[in-house]
Amino acid sequence: WPLVLAVLAFGYLLGSIPFGLIITRLGGMGDVREIGSGNIGATNVLRTGNKKLAAATLVCDALKGTIAVLVVKHFFGAELALIAGFAAFLGHLFPVWLKFKGGKGVATYIGVLLGLNWPFALLFCAVWLTCAFLFRYSSLSAFVASILTPLVLFAAGYVQMAAMFVILTLILFLKHHENIKRLLNGEETKIGNKSKPVE
Ligand code: G3P
Repeated sequence: WPLVLAVLAFGYLLGSIPFGLIITRLGGMGDVREIGSGNIGATNVLRTGNKKLAAATLVCDALKGTIAVLVVKHFFGAELALIAGFAAFLGHLFPVWLKFKGGKGVATYIGVLLGLNWPFALLFCAVWLTCAFLFRYSSLSAFVASILTPLVLFAAGYVQMAAMFVILTLILFLKHHENIKRLLNGEETKIGNKSKPVE
């Protein structure tokens, strides 16, 4: 148990680094929580109009999940790596540093998947990109990709991993409740459109 707790703490702390906030501040764009949806994720950083900062946020938010998984996998094996990935995802969504008001989890979800089983992360990205190309909604693309991920993992025989991603997908959906409402009302901002007020 002490080892499980240490892995949870390690994953959580790594996941809780709010890269979107740090990167937009360092990039001189102010506080990302004051623009667009108010979220600290790459989609909202893109609403500053700075694609490089958005890309950097996406990569860093993903890599913290990947690193948490790979480090723990290397030292303690695959089962604890699952726990590290789960903790990193929770750290991103509920960082103690931001009064537990973190991001919505898509980038970190991909990063955790990348560390655990990289071909499925590529599949996630392919599905996300296809949906984003067709519909231009970041949230909707994440919904489609994150529903498919546990199903495909299960079909490929990765039952334990599939079970964990069912939970991650459920949490991801809960964190997107405002996006879901906006999608249903036809009010969700499309990718490339900056004009959305802070809620
Ligand atoms: O799933 C994408 C998510 O990050 C949406 O972000 O800023 O549109 O709420 P945002």
